[in-house]
Amino acid sequence: MVDAGALEAAQAYALGFFAHEPSGHDVQHTLRVQRLALRIAAEEGADKGIVGLAALLHDVDDAKLSPATSEGLDNARSFLAAQGIAGAEARAILTAIREVSFSQNRDRPPSTIEAACVRDADRLDALGAIGVARTFAFGGAHGRALHDPEHPSGTSIQHFYDKLLLLKDMMCTSAGRAIAVSRDRYLRAFLDEFLAEWDARS
Ligand code: ADP
Ligand code: NI
Repeated sequence: MVDAGALEAAQAYALGFFAHEPSGHDVQHTLRVQRLALRIAAEEGADKGIVGLAALLHDVDDAKLSPATSEGLDNARSFLAAQGIAGAEARAILTAIREVSFSQNRDRPPSTIEAACVRDADRLDALGAIGVARTFAFGGAHGRALHDPEHPSGTSIQHFYDKLLLLKDMMCTSAGRAIAVSRDRYLRAFLDEFLAEWDARS
């Protein structure tokens, strides 16, 4: 069993990890993913200790943030070893972390219910009002245009079509799907209003 001490230590570890992260990828995303993953886990009957730890560690070996450790999930692995978490429990946590990534997994189904909870939570944080805010924050940080109907490639609005509008149909749990339906509806309403204002129709 993953105990409360390990979860507390993982939160402290994530806070420290992102404090030294120059890209601006923030720990609040990790904490939201943990809350959402635990909510989904409760509805799906998944192991909350595995889900909570995997959620807290899901970005500490992200290929963009830590390219040297992403292949072996070395940061997560060292953290678990330092906490004395080994064997089947450690394997379950590392599997869930590995199966979160959008680019590496696309729509290949997760192999465990715990992995499904964390993957859905990470994707849900790209939807809804928070998803809108994160998309434009990312675009701003990377010097991207909001929108450009003539040259849409690389704009923040294009990201909705490339990724965000596809996520609802890629949920892996029924609890995640239910949340995705309302967050997706909000996203589409935002997009409609944005495009109407762009063309001076609204
Ligand atoms: P994570 O997988 O942990 O959610 P990402 O680094 O993939 O993190 O994405 C961070 C946020 O930036 C997400 O909300 C994502 O939708 C958004 N994002 C990623 N790529 C782009 C892009 N090309 N344009 C605008 N937003 C993006
Ligand atoms: Ni993430």
